[in-house]
Amino acid sequence: MIVGSDGRQAERMPVEEDIARELESLKSRQRYRVLPAIGVRNGRFIEVAGRKLLNLSSNDYLGLGADRELLGSWLHGLEASGGDGPAFTSTSSRLLTGNHPLYGELETAIALEYGSESALVFNSGYHANTGILPALCTRHDLILCDRLNHASIIDGIRIAEAEYRRYRHADLDHLEELLEAASGRYRQVFIVTESVFSMDGDLGDLRRLVELKYRHGAFLIVDEAHGVGVYGRKGLGLCESLGLLRDIDIIIGTFGKAFASAGAYAVMRGLFREYLVNTMRTLIYTTALPPVAVGWSLQTFRRQLGMQGARQHLIDLSSKLRDGLRIAGFEVPGDSQIVPVVLGEDRAAVGMAEALREEGFHALPVRPPTVPENSARLRFSLRADLLAEDIDALVETMVRRRP
Ligand SMILES: Cc1ncc(COP(=O)(O)O)c(C=O)c1O
Repeated sequence: MIVGSDGRQAERMPVEEDIARELESLKSRQRYRVLPAIGVRNGRFIEVAGRKLLNLSSNDYLGLGADRELLGSWLHGLEASGGDGPAFTSTSSRLLTGNHPLYGELETAIALEYGSESALVFNSGYHANTGILPALCTRHDLILCDRLNHASIIDGIRIAEAEYRRYRHADLDHLEELLEAASGRYRQVFIVTESVFSMDGDLGDLRRLVELKYRHGAFLIVDEAHGVGVYGRKGLGLCESLGLLRDIDIIIGTFGKAFASAGAYAVMRGLFREYLVNTMRTLIYTTALPPVAVGWSLQTFRRQLGMQGARQHLIDLSSKLRDGLRIAGFEVPGDSQIVPVVLGEDRAAVGMAEALREEGFHALPVRPPTVPENSARLRFSLRADLLAEDIDALVETMVRRRP
């Protein structure tokens, strides 16, 4: 029953009835989400609901967000630059008055490091993925998408006018079948994949994808949201470490994860940049990121170029954790700094996360629909400032508290 401001009573609206029922159902299936009470984040620790826990759920893979020295010297530089330093607002879209000179500096720096003709910065990876495909693909095109691609890619595909098919995760034979079936039927076929898959932590077979792209004349887009900072000598991602930077038509990177800032970018040939500036709705119809965020991204991007030691340590920690858990009999797919432990039922994943919290670790359960049914998991997302002892303690606790 709803009581209006004039005291009149009304039945609940049908939409409210449905929503309330749906929320109850989420609760009964352990799929109800709440925004957690996160307190201070301090290096590898995080305060959750008043307790200091080891942070195993951060995408700050290099620990750059905790680099007080870098932040301090940058802030000092801002102050010294007087009133003309980067502002906290862009006030409008980049196509109007929001295109602060720092955008150009950042895009030039990125394009230079990638050896690419151009780069374009966006407000987030979500904006990039929901904007690029709809801008480039027409109804005469086909998009082929890995089944485990991130929700932002799926949403971009939904908005785009093109037809689409999903190939079984990492099954490039299946992709090849779809490419063969599409031959001659479309203006252009687009293949879109992640490099490091965010839920399974496995690596896409980019070499074979490039081979298929050339053989079938397809356009290849690789989302390196979880690859940049971690892979490649300069942290430009898996595409860099495999020597494929020039073979991929569009590479997407994000600033909100290993680069400890906010926003995203794509590197591509100049023609595509020019076209996106003219047609990409999530670039045109949104207020640009504040210059202060763009300036900070430039700092962290430059800093991480030389962080080979941290990258190696992170990969070593990941192998140590994977090996330890596998030896103990856990199902641990993948091969990266994202280490999922598949536990099956939602209840098991939620229970294990709770047990770890009691022991001082912060790791989150991931449940359907984010992952397939009956593959609920704990997802460890490691950072380079963790210690080998932290991993030992985690493995020991997992074994002791296993369901
Ligand atoms: C593979 C992938 N792409 C894109 C995004 C979205 O990036 P952003 O958080 O910058 O919106 C994410 C975020 O989790 C992601 O995992």
